[in-house]
Amino acid sequence: MMKILVTGGAGFIGSNFVCYLLREHPDWEVTNLDKLTYAGNLENLGDVEGNPGYHFVKGDITDRELVDKLLGQGFDVVVNFAAESHVDRSILDSSPFIRTNVQGTQVLLEGARQHKVKLFLQVSTDEVYGSLGAPGKFTEESPLLPNSPYAASKAAADCLCRAYYHTYGLPVVITRCSNNYGPFQFPEKLIPLVITNALESKEIPVYGDGLNVRDWIHVEDHCRALDLIIQQGKPGEIYNIGGNCEETNLQLVHCILAIMGKPRSLITFVADRPGHDRRYALETSKIERELGWRPAILLGEGLRGTVQWYIQNQSWWQRVKSGEYVEYYERMYSQRAGSG
Ligand code: NAD
Ligand code: DAU
Repeated sequence: MMKILVTGGAGFIGSNFVCYLLREHPDWEVTNLDKLTYAGNLENLGDVEGNPGYHFVKGDITDRELVDKLLGQGFDVVVNFAAESHVDRSILDSSPFIRTNVQGTQVLLEGARQHKVKLFLQVSTDEVYGSLGAPGKFTEESPLLPNSPYAASKAAADCLCRAYYHTYGLPVVITRCSNNYGPFQFPEKLIPLVITNALESKEIPVYGDGLNVRDWIHVEDHCRALDLIIQQGKPGEIYNIGGNCEETNLQLVHCILAIMGKPRSLITFVADRPGHDRRYALETSKIERELGWRPAILLGEGLRGTVQWYIQNQSWWQRVKSGEYVEYYERMYSQRAGSG
């Protein structure tokens, strides 16, 4: 039996992970601490509702008292997903990114130290390494060269995790994963944005020349890697997790439109994201060698399943694509028009 505190478990990857854990380990106990920001949605957790091994706590990871009280209940593992996660939003306003991603991580680390948690798993990102122009891939030893306020906040959190390992001996593992896709992804991110706009026959905004490259991984493969790391990861280590599947944004959008039988004429080239990283690519031989993990879901297969999921869950994304979402888009595009 393992007692796990998952933070940010009502978001995209966190909710997939909570469901994954309780499916794979029916005897584990999972508590989900989530603030329920615009990105958190309890509907994502329908599969575990009523499961006696699942508990939900609404709260903020920057709340020291709450975190202390919760961790005082005795957890073996903390998995920290809670974050502001969208690069474009961090360009509009970086303050919530610093508060949650940096201060929040510090509060969790301190609570984990006080209450002697056996493993603190920090879910980080390949964006901390910055941008790759030429061929080559980021290894776990590559320098941290973040370019967006989001990436900088995640890099700062990684540094704090490293410091808690070296200074206090807190058993910390950092994972750095590439771009995830799959069910329950908030439609501000490229893949669900393309699918849902195409379903509504709306324009598909492609930033700049569309030739920026991302490495895509299905969220289920990411969850499987994190589960393995909980069981076999070595404290103090960093593990890259990637799909080994590089595509330009334009290739990816063409592929989704082809799956959906929608015309390429929906594509509209729009002003580029300021500081837009050109390419991410990860060297993943460490996790393959040490833990025997490899991505299992091919992009074409994963995209077809994801398109099907958004077709079958129209009410989910139609609800999320309203209110705050609409205001955010208006603010983002008016700022970009103003600076362009
Ligand atoms: P998301 O935006 O979908 O979900 C974030 C969740 O965190 C939401 O449920 C939100 O309510 C919660 N949250 C935000 N602030 C909080 C706070 N102060 N206290 C408690 N809960 C809070 O994010 P995601 O895409 O699922 O990403 C999850 C994690 O994985 C993030 O740390 C992100 O940096 C990392 N990551 C994401 C990707 C990706 O492609 N999406 C890739 C690599 C790493
Ligand atoms: O690499 C991991 C990261 O992947 C995570 O750490 C982040 O949390 C996650 O949001 C994601 O960041 P990206 O910035 O790469 O993802 P996004 O979906 O925002 O954009 C993917 C690419 O598509 C990027 O090059 C920008 C481009 N894009 C994005 C949007 C939203 C467009 O061309 N048009 C769009 O409308």
